[in-house]
Amino acid sequence: MTAEPGGMNFKDKVVVVTGVGAGIGAAIADAFAACGATVVGLERDLEALSQSATRITGSGGSFHPIRADVSSEQEVATGFREIIAKFNTVDVLVNNVGREFYRNFVDVTVSDFDRQIAVNLRSVFLCCSHVVPVMIREQSGCIINTASVQALATTGQTAPYAAAKAGILGMTRDMARDLGQYNIRVNGICPGCIATPMMDRGLGRSSDPQAAREEMQSAIPLRRLGEPREIANVVLFLASDLASYVSGVSLVIDGGLLAQLPVV
Ligand SMILES: NC(=O)c1ccc[n+]([C@@H]2O[C@H](COP(=O)([O-])OP(=O)(O)OC[C@H]3O[C@@H](n4cnc5c(N)ncnc54)[C@H](O)[C@@H]3O)[C@@H](O)[C@H]2O)c1
Repeated sequence: MTAEPGGMNFKDKVVVVTGVGAGIGAAIADAFAACGATVVGLERDLEALSQSATRITGSGGSFHPIRADVSSEQEVATGFREIIAKFNTVDVLVNNVGREFYRNFVDVTVSDFDRQIAVNLRSVFLCCSHVVPVMIREQSGCIINTASVQALATTGQTAPYAAAKAGILGMTRDMARDLGQYNIRVNGICPGCIATPMMDRGLGRSSDPQAAREEMQSAIPLRRLGEPREIANVVLFLASDLASYVSGVSLVIDGGLLAQLPVV
């Protein structure tokens, strides 16, 4: 595939995206479908999955929905068996699923920790473990893993989530090292504050969510939350031939948030 500068053509490509029912995952699925890909969406919430299917196919896109909880080894295995049986290949995997968690470290239980690692980190490993053999056979592939700015700095009260997201960055580097010889590129993304249902839930913990949102915006150099589509655009770039020599990196997409030092 050759890509013209500025052009993103994923025609005849099979792109698997996890967590397509809302937020960033829905925007990523929309973006790939608009660029001609056959998008396979894995999603835990059946209602949200069917809304994405209706939206994408209604706009002329190609979408194959699979209901699966990606923290379940069995459901992931069943889902990828279906994908391989139907399409025989996977060109791009976007591990988007993640679940926030807020609790002071002293109150975090072992089961909180295990659950966070299962949803945020083990799920990435599970999905990768099914596509990597296919990509090795094809001698081609691209994997994009979603971490967070919380992998690099912290707001506090997120130890298990931050540990999982930092783990994703480590696994991304290692996979790029091990899989590069098969022409498989593996990269990560670290979104900042993005306007999604997850963000709404986070702000909803405040007694005044609107004031909390304004305070958050004022702390971001671009003075606004990011839109899911702005994450999807970077994912499209990383998956495209425009990024054919990009592997093993994690791109921060945060409106400048992490570039700052505190004013002293
Ligand atoms: N929104 C932000 O500000 C932000 C910031 C940094 C990183 N992120 C990361 O970006 C990714 C997407 O976040 P978002 O804000 O769009 O989340 P969201 O909660 O708004 O949407 C997540 C989607 O994934 C689905 N999902 C959740 N758990 C699942 C599971 N176990 N199996 C299958 N589907 C599941 C949900 O049903 C939902 O449709 C996550 O990895 C998140 O950690 C988000």
